[in-house]
Amino acid sequence: MVEILFYLQVNLLLVINLDVFEAIKNRRSIRQYSNLPVESEKISRILEAARLSPSANNNQPWSFVVVTQKEARESLFPAYPREWFMTAQVVIVACADPKKAWSNPNGEDYWKVDVAIAVHNMCLAAYELGLGSCWVAAFDEQKIKNALGVPKELRVLLLLTLGYSAEEKGPVTSRKPLEDIVRYERWQLNNA
Ligand SMILES: Cc1cc2nc3c(=O)[nH]c(=O)nc-3n(C[C@H](O)[C@H](O)[C@H](O)COP(=O)(O)O)c2cc1C
Repeated sequence: MVEILFYLQVNLLLVINLDVFEAIKNRRSIRQYSNLPVESEKISRILEAARLSPSANNNQPWSFVVVTQKEARESLFPAYPREWFMTAQVVIVACADPKKAWSNPNGEDYWKVDVAIAVHNMCLAAYELGLGSCWVAAFDEQKIKNALGVPKELRVLLLLTLGYSAEEKGPVTSRKPLEDIVRYERWQLNNA
């Protein structure tokens, strides 16, 4: 009995791992969305993926503004004037309070790392829910803050667009091979 339970558990774990890997492999940046609205249950689930994300010292320095209304989305256009951006049915504006974030002993601040993890968890959750997403960093921060009334002590790090994809994209391919980016045990090869 114990063996059967162990076997089931291992197989279940394999299925879960494959699902995560499948999402990592097939998630792509989607820059054209259909005009179908995104269900609020899906938005909630995506936000839950952000909420559950790890952060340095568990400080959770993030907050998110969910923009769904057409007029509000249009108010973001001057900050990132790209036509495709306006096709996204939802924009999640990822903010942080740097004062609430953890710094390491060298004074390195980790709020950008914390927010980035939450944003990517949302991307993976969106993929699982059949939605496309795209990170956006190339925006004018002050214009976003003005449009949404974000308090001045907060930072706006990233925008995440969401919606049903209106473009076909295959799995991720354009990445460096492992042998170019990984070294084992130490930086220099033993025979170098
Ligand atoms: C931190 C970060 C910032 C990004 N900023 C933008 C952006 O401002 N505009 C954009 O169109 N894509 C942006 N992207 C998407 C990347 O261009 C994209 O992830 C990369 O080209 C790989 O393509 P893929 O996501 O389809 O695999 C950003 C991605 C990351 C991780």
